[in-house]
Amino acid sequence: MAKKILFDTDPGVDDATALLFLHKHPEAELVGITTVFGNTDIDRVTRNALYLKERFDVAAPVARGAGRPLVCEPGPLPVLVHGDNGLGNVTIPESIAGDLDPRPAARFIIDTLREHPGEITIVAVGRLTNLAQALAEAPEIAGLAKEVVIMGGAFALSGHNGNVTPVAEANILGDPHAADLVFGAAWPVVAVGLDVTRQVMITPRDLARLHGEGGDAGRFIAEISDHYRRFYSRFGIEGFYCHDASAAALAIDPSLFTTRAGPVRVATEGIVMGQTIQRDNRIPFGPNAWDGVPDQHVCVEVEADRLKALVMGTLLG
Ligand code: BDR
Ligand code: CA
Repeated sequence: MAKKILFDTDPGVDDATALLFLHKHPEAELVGITTVFGNTDIDRVTRNALYLKERFDVAAPVARGAGRPLVCEPGPLPVLVHGDNGLGNVTIPESIAGDLDPRPAARFIIDTLREHPGEITIVAVGRLTNLAQALAEAPEIAGLAKEVVIMGGAFALSGHNGNVTPVAEANILGDPHAADLVFGAAWPVVAVGLDVTRQVMITPRDLARLHGEGGDAGRFIAEISDHYRRFYSRFGIEGFYCHDASAAALAIDPSLFTTRAGPVRVATEGIVMGQTIQRDNRIPFGPNAWDGVPDQHVCVEVEADRLKALVMGTLLG
């Protein structure tokens, strides 16, 4: 039976790729798309999600989510990475005819988890604001989710630290208070952080294949990725890291990853704001800020070639 997936996203070039991967994968049933500010503002990410739904015939409803972080001031928009419109400056219509679900994203998440207790995998690849709002409104939903897969964080494994500050990854820094609440809730979370997503590269050759052999979706991914690729080339990197699609891939095939269990806290202030820190449960620390926080799983290793084959095979197939 296909896995029911609720996709919380800020499309976003790699978000769009992850969404199309889930849309095309036969073992994924997208039950909803909730949007959150991040790669661009909430109006544009929502418009982009509606555009993807309409153009690629995605059945799942789209619900508009949070437009700012819970507590902090919003940071600058990452136009250098995702373009002014969030989709690599590829022209798309300003307004989309498609219907938006009338509910705010947090309410949509609550309703969906209540309708399908124990069945929904949330794949969250943006700021965690919608999930934190849903938990605040209905804390019992933590017991209703099958799993929460997050693209976010950097755990200093294999030398991988932050991508926005030396210690913080973008999705977590974008709303650190929300992230701390989501990691601290009693639902099973798996974090797919930079430690593993930076080990999976989408190369110019992959993009050429998507463009030539991947039909309309492949061509679209190649087109929106051009701006993203040029951003990475400034650092001498050919191609780009596969962030959001790695989290989507975990939802389909968790055997691609090795994980480690332990409670995770997120620093919400100071120069380490946005840092994700998992306690090593083997060390007998004295009383600490991780006490009473449930164990969550953090990805420590990935079978990069196998993951790439799954993502590319699905998008090309
Ligand atoms: C994350 O930030 C965004 O730029 C991407 O869409 C991804 O979710 C990577 O740090
Ligand atoms: Ca994203």
